[in-house]
Amino acid sequence: MRTLKVSLGDRSYPIYLGEGLVSRAGELLRKAGCGEQVGVVTNPTVAGLYLNPVQEALARSGFRVTSILVADGEGHKSLKSLSAIYDQLVKARFERSSCLLALGGGVIGDLAGFAAATFLRGIPYVQVPTTLLAQVDSSVGGKTGVNHREGKNLIGAFYQPKAVLIDVEVLRTLPRRELLAGLAEVIKYGIIEDAALFALLEEKLEKLLALDRGLLEEAIAASCSIKARVVEKDEREEDYRSVLNFGHTIGHALEALTAYEKFLHGEAVAIGMAQAAAISVGQGLCDAESLGRIHRLIKKAGLPTAIPSNINTPELVKKMEVDKKAAGGKIKFVLCAGIGKTQFCWLSPQEIMARLAA
Ligand code: NAD
Ligand code: GLY
Repeated sequence: MRTLKVSLGDRSYPIYLGEGLVSRAGELLRKAGCGEQVGVVTNPTVAGLYLNPVQEALARSGFRVTSILVADGEGHKSLKSLSAIYDQLVKARFERSSCLLALGGGVIGDLAGFAAATFLRGIPYVQVPTTLLAQVDSSVGGKTGVNHREGKNLIGAFYQPKAVLIDVEVLRTLPRRELLAGLAEVIKYGIIEDAALFALLEEKLEKLLALDRGLLEEAIAASCSIKARVVEKDEREEDYRSVLNFGHTIGHALEALTAYEKFLHGEAVAIGMAQAAAISVGQGLCDAESLGRIHRLIKKAGLPTAIPSNINTPELVKKMEVDKKAAGGKIKFVLCAGIGKTQFCWLSPQEIMARLAA
């Protein structure tokens, strides 16, 4: 097992990464200083695979365990699910020292994290992410929240976990499409901060997709380290943290325009990254060779690069304008200044439309 650290003063926490950590949850929660009572928040899909070993590990370490199940799916990252979690915590008499354990992908992590942030004005929680996306992105950095019918993640809080337990073994049961969507975020870290990670992905992608354990750990560790360093610099996304949104401005707009039904988040981000790289070349920031490498790697990973032909480009750009990253008629873009480097840029809708690539 390796240990990384997110250093945020009294909100610092370890990220444990390795094999078989699900079965070590009890010991690692003790280390994190969790009280006697633990609520495991999960969904039926993940519960069927991993709830038993987690419960057994917690019981072996003497914890009292309450399991809290939420239906599977983005639609359940809601105030209704949150309210049902509070009901169960009240019923089981959870106290300030009691702890929540989020066992699942980003939906469960965001929901359980927000329940922890708000119940009794804040109780400790631990992330046990089970999708690649959650392991490299959503479990680290303390963004928690739920959706509102008018938009995603409109209600939430910055609230850091006490620890993150990343067990690479759980990725073996993850559907391939979900794995690839998570891989888009790993590629993102390579593009924005780490040319060596990008080159590693180019060279060893097949092995990674065959779930080679050493390689998975290397790619996840590199991704989490980048995320940790960014969050340490700008925890509450006042400025620099938005570098993590590379590819997301177009990605979010695509998801919204297709009613969150056509693309997984990582798929939309893959298109967004390919397009942001093309815009970067148009702006004279990025060389054509880097653009070619970005497009080739995204395609090799089985992810899309092109905006589907039935998408209306002016409508897409309009969606970007309603995103929170727009001001004074211009949209804030994270652009690529060569692999491993970024630059922020404010662009007009006309400039964006002129640069979107096929
Ligand atoms: P998800 O949580 O919906 O999980 C995807 C699917 O995989 C679900 O059906 C889930 O039940 C299943 N699953 C999870 N682990 C599994 C496993 N090991 N084996 C088999 N099936 C498994 O989706 P996601 O992509 O993990 O997360 C998306 C969510 O994350 C969105 O709500 C997004 O807003 C949020 N997010 C948050 C942050 C953040 O910083 N907090 C960052 C990125 C995304
Ligand atoms: N997923 C982007 C962030 O955590 O800021």
